[in-house]
Amino acid sequence: MSLAVASTQAGGTASSLRHLAIIMDGNGRWAKAKRLPRLAGHRAGVEAVRRVVEAAPDLGIEILTLYAFSSENWKRPADEVSDLMGLLRHYIRSEIKELHRNGVRLSFIGDWKALQSDLVELLEDARQLTANNTGLRLVMALNYGGQDEMVRAVRTLAADVAAGRLDPAAIDTDMVGDRLDTAGMPPPDLVLRTSGEQRLSNFLLWQSAYAEFVATDILWPDFDRVALADAVAEFATRERRFGGR
Ligand code: FPP
Repeated sequence: MSLAVASTQAGGTASSLRHLAIIMDGNGRWAKAKRLPRLAGHRAGVEAVRRVVEAAPDLGIEILTLYAFSSENWKRPADEVSDLMGLLRHYIRSEIKELHRNGVRLSFIGDWKALQSDLVELLEDARQLTANNTGLRLVMALNYGGQDEMVRAVRTLAADVAAGRLDPAAIDTDMVGDRLDTAGMPPPDLVLRTSGEQRLSNFLLWQSAYAEFVATDILWPDFDRVALADAVAEFATRERRFGGR
């Protein structure tokens, strides 16, 4: 079977990058190199988010998932956590109109409803406002951890089994996928990590089963349209086999 046929059967073409997921890393090192406080690095990171959200549709990307705050990021000093939450609030408040105008559909994965209640309200309003948009789907991973997501999914399955609604033998990969935060979304084609690190760090563990991985040395605050185009070009050189040959 040709590669094109094999990969079409697996849900995409060899070179189509529909869903890009990014581990945005290196804000702290960017700030340190410039002798600036970490907050300046995170602020510059938000500017990179703006650039990438604007550039992604031009490169044919339909879904952009950004790892904005992990369930492990709570271990950071309280003032840094509070800075990150403040930046998120500011980003949503200042960008939502523009995102909506550009047809962006904003949604969230992770245990984001456990964030501060005013922030949850802001996020939910933004989600509802943009829910019917048909442009770029922007997914922010907030208070997200892949293991935590799987635990939450398993709990719902276990509850159905305990209630007699579900036969354990009937549980399959589709059923698990349908209970994840990403239910209904195609899996990422490419997971990209900036700043030279080559780890998944608990990001989209289930969904990345057949994703390509690209690591770039660029620190997230320096990431731009050209860097994004380079990553897309690197992805296009990959042969995807989805476990076949
Ligand atoms: C990693 O840098 C980045 C994060 C902690 C998450 C990403 C956050 C942003 C881009 C800013 C907030 C985003 C939005 C959309 C409001 P790091 O601090 O781990 O960098 P380091 O490894 O160099 O210290």
